[in-house]
Amino acid sequence: MTGTVGNRSAAWVKQNRLWRSVFRNPLPQDELGRMATMFTNFFLHILPARVNRYSLKLSATWALGAASAILFVLLFATGIPLMFFYAPTVERAYADMKDLEFVVSYGLILRNMHRWAAHGMVAIVFLHMVRVFYTGSYKPPREFNWVLGVWLWLLTLFASFTGYLLPWDQLAFWAITVGTSIAGFAPVIGEKIRMVLLGGTAVGQGALLRFYVLHVLVIPLLMMVLIAVHFWRVRKDGGLARPERAEGARPARASNPSPPVSTAIGFSPFPPKAAKTYALMEIAHGETPLVSTQAPEEELPAWPHLVFRLLVLFAGIVAAMAAAGYFFDAPLGELANPLRPENPAKAPWYFLGLQEMVGYSALAGGVVVPGLAILALLSIPYVDRERDGEGVWFTSRRGTWLALWSFLGTGTLAPLLTFLNLRFRPRRLYPDIPQYLVDLVNPASVLTLLIIVASLLVMWVTRSRRMAAITLFSAFLAAYIVYTVIGVYLRGPNWILMMPWQTPEVY
Ligand code: HEM
Repeated sequence: MTGTVGNRSAAWVKQNRLWRSVFRNPLPQDELGRMATMFTNFFLHILPARVNRYSLKLSATWALGAASAILFVLLFATGIPLMFFYAPTVERAYADMKDLEFVVSYGLILRNMHRWAAHGMVAIVFLHMVRVFYTGSYKPPREFNWVLGVWLWLLTLFASFTGYLLPWDQLAFWAITVGTSIAGFAPVIGEKIRMVLLGGTAVGQGALLRFYVLHVLVIPLLMMVLIAVHFWRVRKDGGLARPERAEGARPARASNPSPPVSTAIGFSPFPPKAAKTYALMEIAHGETPLVSTQAPEEELPAWPHLVFRLLVLFAGIVAAMAAAGYFFDAPLGELANPLRPENPAKAPWYFLGLQEMVGYSALAGGVVVPGLAILALLSIPYVDRERDGEGVWFTSRRGTWLALWSFLGTGTLAPLLTFLNLRFRPRRLYPDIPQYLVDLVNPASVLTLLIIVASLLVMWVTRSRRMAAITLFSAFLAAYIVYTVIGVYLRGPNWILMMPWQTPEVY
């Protein structure tokens, strides 16, 4: 009885003009309804109406791009209410943090969720980049989207870094002091960058206000624009990269035709050269990337197949962050004290690899090596122009082996070089060598040189730039992880190397 009343009321609401003015399509029941829902809904129209089956597989993307976007939204959702209770002044910032913990309803969990989501986003965006690289998904026409992605990664790091100062506790104060001093090592403009960032020569009110404005306005705005273009490019580049032989792969190229697409009825209605062509009054000829046809049976409607997967992912991430926020409190040290440095003063964990390299040499570790690494990242799609292996993890068996050995080799060599440097200090062995040589020849620069030589060797032997890129990327990945682990766990007071279970002697 109640069911019937409920059904009737629901039907009445849905027939209502007000309801229909907002929701123009009823819940989709058929193919046409599904398409209409995707096209006419503001939030859904960013997604394609139909999705390739291959792209829906978890192993194709591990949903890392979508998870990055969801974390970005969650950071907005938790960050805006936090702004109601926070003033970026040296006098109030720390007290506001305490109020969030003890006075504001749900203040602590809100702050915790914001903090864990920020760390989560730094990690997930990085993993998304790793997935895109290893599946060769930066290859034409996706080169520019990769470049946009690299900027998004740097902005994600910077967003997290600027947020780090806001609690104005000892941890934040000294982490940012260390972090910004790394920027100061850049030749010529380094000191200027530091001054612009800090609004002075040291971390103080000027820095707090600048970091706040960058954190809540400038960086999120830039990221929103870049993410919008990033998504738009995914659509315009013909959806996600897929292996050529996967169902619904990109159309065959004349030089390398893929086998005909099999269909349930035993034949494909699609011609072998399936990309549509256009001619604009004989002025422009070419293939449109978007309309590269795929057989309809290889596509599924985005509603419900993609939309529901995204909803589940969204719910999962929100639940995980809420649980993390409930059980683990974001750290808050004592009130910032510029006269009492932390020992060791450590940058946020994602910059500790960098700080470790700066420990060897400020210029080589803080500027030259990271500068080269970012330049290499940005130029990957323009250097490796081979089409083979698009959408295929590690491209081939050889690629898998190279990735593995390069990762393991560097993972062993990096700590070994650090240990050797500690054992046989060049300055102790050769007291008279000039300082620039000591600076230049350090574990990080020697490792970088070895990695570059190994990659060139791989290119020479395999005649493949993709294989060289896999070697280079895997080695840098291992080095980044090793240096981060050393920085986080093995550096004690005065930056001495010590095991986590050892008790520091110097304070
Ligand atoms: C805020 C950061 C980012 C967000 C929100 C984001 C989001 C996404 C999403 C949702 C996709 C669709 C496929 C997927 O889920 O994997 C995607 C694809 C892609 N992303 Fe990102 N991304 C970000 C950062 C990056 C970074 C750091 C890179 C690389 C440097 C990158 C490069 C790409 C490329 C090349 C594609 C197309 C991949 C393909 O065709 O398979 N993105 N991104």
